[in-house]
Amino acid sequence: MTDLVVRRLLVDMEAPIARHWCGGDAFRTALFNALSMSFPVGEQFFIDSVRNGHKQLPADKQAQYKDEVQGFIGQEATHRRLHSLYNAHLEKLGLVNDWAPRAQERMKLLDGIDPRHALAITAANEHFTAILADWMLRNPDRVASDDERLTTMWLWHSSEESEHKTTAFDLYKALGGNEAWRITWFRRVTIIFLGDTLRQTVNNLQHDGTLWKWSTWKSAASFLFGERGLIRQTYKPWREYLRADFHPDQQDSTLSQKWLVDNRDRYTPVGAAA
Ligand SMILES: [Fe+2]
Ligand SMILES: [Fe+2]
Repeated sequence: MTDLVVRRLLVDMEAPIARHWCGGDAFRTALFNALSMSFPVGEQFFIDSVRNGHKQLPADKQAQYKDEVQGFIGQEATHRRLHSLYNAHLEKLGLVNDWAPRAQERMKLLDGIDPRHALAITAANEHFTAILADWMLRNPDRVASDDERLTTMWLWHSSEESEHKTTAFDLYKALGGNEAWRITWFRRVTIIFLGDTLRQTVNNLQHDGTLWKWSTWKSAASFLFGERGLIRQTYKPWREYLRADFHPDQQDSTLSQKWLVDNRDRYTPVGAAA
């Protein structure tokens, strides 16, 4: 069992954020903003999937996972809250969130079907967030900002994603979820997630008026494919999920634990949310 602490981050998200908050870089800002736009809807889906999956377990297993599930829900609920405040600033900057309504439409297709499908989708997305989180914790300068609130928020979120990366996966397995569907959903989620990320990033750059600037494309190429590039460094850990004996615990969480210890003064533990 993973012991999951819910933490209240001590940042004030009321003050507005700068248009190019991420090191003055239009591309990186647009990409991280796109991810943020997906979180309130996506994380609510993860919460619901885990909660519904947990209810399907036999009583002894429910008791075994109870604290972990509460911790997972509490952490994701806290992420949602802060990212919603962040996203409200993005709206004021003229950005338009097309990802969330599109995701909401797609989720309707899952109504009434076996809850293990939603859990497999959640586990696949959680793999994405875990490898992205680990990459971010290894390359914190990529998300560095003059506005310390934002860097802190991204690294805190990353640390907790890494911390709870096994919950949905373990519940899926505990409910007898099979390998074929685990892999099928992972492949589908990969296409959907990358497609949505690309579309929303382009959309953000369009609204920002920076889509056709040479500096934007130069930054995109080096950020994605450069020596410490996001795609270059996450491809191998991404592929691990396809192995039959894969478990999220096999992937390193040292940096997450270290960040949470080193930054104790930036949050207060509040216990698990009900
Ligand atoms: Fe999260
Ligand atoms: Fe998560």
